[in-house]
Amino acid sequence: MAQKPAFRSFRAIQYRILRRSQIRRTFLFALQAGSPLLRSLLASLTLLAVAMAAPVAAAQKVALFIDVSKPGPKIDRNLFGQFAEHLGHGVYEGIWVGPDSKIPNTRGIRNDVVAALKAIKVPNVRWPGGCFADEYHWRKGIGPQRTVTLNPNWGGVIEPNSFGTTEFMDFLDQIGAEAYLSVNVGSGTPQEASEWLEYLTTAQPTTLAKERDANGHPAPYKVAFLGIGNESWDCGGNMTPDYYLSQLKIYSRFVRNFNPAQQDKQQMLKIAVGPGGGEPRWTEWTDAIMKAYQNHTWSWDMNGLSMHSYTVVKWPPSYASVGFGETEYAQILKSTLEMNDLVEKHSAIMDKYDPKKKVALVVDEWGGWYAPLPGSNPGFLAQQNSLRDAVLAALNLNIFARHADRVRMANIAQMINVLQAMILTDKEKMVLTPTYYVYKMYVPFQDATFVPVTFDAGTFTHDGITLPRIDAIAAKDKAGKLWLAITSVDPNQSAEIEVTLAGVNAKSAAGETLSASKVDSVNTFDAANTAVPKPFSAKAQDGKLTLKLAPKSVTVVAVEQ
Ligand code: AHR
Repeated sequence: MAQKPAFRSFRAIQYRILRRSQIRRTFLFALQAGSPLLRSLLASLTLLAVAMAAPVAAAQKVALFIDVSKPGPKIDRNLFGQFAEHLGHGVYEGIWVGPDSKIPNTRGIRNDVVAALKAIKVPNVRWPGGCFADEYHWRKGIGPQRTVTLNPNWGGVIEPNSFGTTEFMDFLDQIGAEAYLSVNVGSGTPQEASEWLEYLTTAQPTTLAKERDANGHPAPYKVAFLGIGNESWDCGGNMTPDYYLSQLKIYSRFVRNFNPAQQDKQQMLKIAVGPGGGEPRWTEWTDAIMKAYQNHTWSWDMNGLSMHSYTVVKWPPSYASVGFGETEYAQILKSTLEMNDLVEKHSAIMDKYDPKKKVALVVDEWGGWYAPLPGSNPGFLAQQNSLRDAVLAALNLNIFARHADRVRMANIAQMINVLQAMILTDKEKMVLTPTYYVYKMYVPFQDATFVPVTFDAGTFTHDGITLPRIDAIAAKDKAGKLWLAITSVDPNQSAEIEVTLAGVNAKSAAGETLSASKVDSVNTFDAANTAVPKPFSAKAQDGKLTLKLAPKSVTVVAVEQ
């Protein structure tokens, strides 16, 4: 994207604003001095200054070209995946309240949460962690008697194991999502993991299959994705790339999926631990795993390489999730846009060893990670979710979509009550976050075909931080309908987008737009509709659509041709 010309015109605007404030200062001084002649002279000058200012306050114009004749890759629906770890109130209270709860539930799973998640068509859920996965022993979470353990990673609280395999698979069934299981490489064994998969997937009458039957599920479960370890370079066991590779090969070989329906088609995809950043330590990790993959033999395989990247600016997370201003808005968004370089850096290494892009880059932990909410258990990673997070989510989803040939799965962290959540709950209360609404608005992009969009975003600068004014993606859904998602990043200036479709006459556009009065506007249990999508439409003139977008907004429209 060429941004220099727009940047120059931005400097010109800055200069005009400066000049305006100088004029205003002179005017006030003269008024205080009390000269009538000077007063009328300065009043005329003021009118002139106001007239000069008028075009500055007008919406920033952006020309956007969509070329439907050059479709790109499929935007895999799994880019809109979720992550639910046994952490804070993510699972317990967020999903699971137990069958005896007064909160309406189906077999212990909250009905309100299920209904909300169904509406965003969650494609897959990663579970049980996270760091928790490398200390999880599945047998403690099955059958009528659960073993009560601890959760040393996250607050050292009691882990009742009442939400285990049966409950997770039931939850998936209720929301219509697929399973992405992370197996315990850090403190488990290949045998433990392989028995878990046998328990879940075999159709033959083995002892484990009979146990599954006794626990209420005679038919084998489908396990679509298998994560082999989590952050094995850190909380998952502090392994070197070579040590991890030796584990990956063993787990890949012995942790089998026996489901007859998953032998030819719909095979379970195995996802190896990948990088956690862009520094040499991580590029070396990606290089080592991908180099091994290039030379892999029949006895082991992998289909994805995981990548974790949070928007945090610096560790430990100290940015407030609510009660912040435009400087923090700009800093966080600047930081989140680094996802693009990170994806490209690791994709380039993957291309070296896997030019056909057989291995997916799976961004299975991402999102804004802020300071814990005052008064909350710091181990619970509880934070609010603001309009800034909606913009952040859209920018990242756009980055993933633009790299859809390599990035075929992503899981925002985390689904409920933890980090950048879709949903917040407090006992019987539930509220949907601005991030939730972005996921809802982006549903049409699931499995749609990427369509290239070109535009000069221009920039705005706040407190020395320069950001693009807008971002946009387009895609065609299976029915052939064209969808356009535009993020207006600038917190103060609206944007006027003139859309031209190469070779096509656009008639109108209709959809929804999400904005709010402040960059840190949040939805709360008492005021749940502060940042919710509103209907949006535009008519075309001479085949061109003009979309007037509010500052700090996310808009998704279907284009009628
Ligand atoms: O999402 C919270 C934690 O962040 C996960 O458990 C871990 O994988 C990552 O470091």
